[in-house]
Amino acid sequence: MNKEELINKAECIVKKKIAGYDSGHDWWHITRVRNLSKYINDRENLEDSFLVDLAAMFHDYGDSKFSGNNHEECYLEINKFLNDNGLGDLNNRITDIMKNVSFSSKMRSGNIEDPVLLIIQDADKLDAMGAIGIARAFNYGGFRNNLIYSPVKEENKNSTINHFYEKLLLLKSMLHTETARVIAHERHEIMEVFLRQFYKEWNFNGV
Ligand code: ADP
Ligand code: NI
Repeated sequence: MNKEELINKAECIVKKKIAGYDSGHDWWHITRVRNLSKYINDRENLEDSFLVDLAAMFHDYGDSKFSGNNHEECYLEINKFLNDNGLGDLNNRITDIMKNVSFSSKMRSGNIEDPVLLIIQDADKLDAMGAIGIARAFNYGGFRNNLIYSPVKEENKNSTINHFYEKLLLLKSMLHTETARVIAHERHEIMEVFLRQFYKEWNFNGV
């Protein structure tokens, strides 16, 4: 089986798995992360493009928000896919990336310094920033029935606007590659502009 056929097969199992995820973690998120990973890898010239694409494809396959505590089952499914398709030697690398990619991961298995992990982490973070990041945050907040915002401090703790301060505005400084930092610049600014406008409208007192 050639690489294109393997990628097509991988696409099928990922699409099936994430069918129940929210639209911030759907097939289009995977597509954007694959695209960003390829762009970063091409410019940084770090790794084999096939491996980067597979890692991007599987990066959310075992996401705890959706798989509950069935991580091991998810990893085994990917192991089986790789073994069945003659890619068994990639098992440890891909599984380590799946375990460690998440910003909020509680599954960290040490400090793996695989350049592929660093690329996928950067790509995943970039997709949580900018206009898409804003859209994903409010989509996720709606999915969880969270408040958009509250001027009451206690109530605001679980709001989507608060998520900007807890996570989204911090992402810029957590990137590994120079290419990702360049892409992040505009995405970070857009979020700051958005927040300024948000408060201006919230506190409206005339034009
Ligand atoms: P990671 O995949 O790095 O663990 P998450 O899965 O936590 O990141 O986040 C994925 C997406 O969901 C991001 O766009 C993030 O902003 C959004 N998200 C996660 N938690 C919240 C939250 N509490 N409120 C709004 N958006 C959230
Ligand atoms: Ni992701």
